[in-house]
Amino acid sequence: MDQDLSRIGVSLPENLLGKFDEIITKRGYSSRSEGIRDAIRGYIRYYDWMSEVKGERIGILSLTYDHSQRGLVTSLMDLEHEFTTITRSSVHIHISHDECMEVILLSGEGKDVRAIAERVMALKGVKNVKLTTIRPGQEV
Ligand code: NI
Repeated sequence: MDQDLSRIGVSLPENLLGKFDEIITKRGYSSRSEGIRDAIRGYIRYYDWMSEVKGERIGILSLTYDHSQRGLVTSLMDLEHEFTTITRSSVHIHISHDECMEVILLSGEGKDVRAIAERVMALKGVKNVKLTTIRPGQEV
């Protein structure tokens, strides 16, 4: 059944839109709108999945970020210190002049694992955040 459609206007950096258009062309979407609807569905699914992260968890949080973004390096460090009870280790890779990658290994209560991931995602200058979690002692 067709649902009522709302029309929205979104401002995007040109390079972001360019990359998005490249992907939807490659994937054969009939329109930009269809690609955006699919991306939003994926975002919602990921959020729903995140909401289910609870109980004892091992977490792998990976992110890339622009280290020239003012205050970002300090904010990330502050977060790792704030969540010191679950932060076990981190690896930092300098990808290019401005871009860094960090992988943070977490272990503890799922809601804390989720909380640090959400806080990292909300920081300006953070580009790609992925959280993978494992329940200790359980087969996937
Ligand atoms: Ni770096």
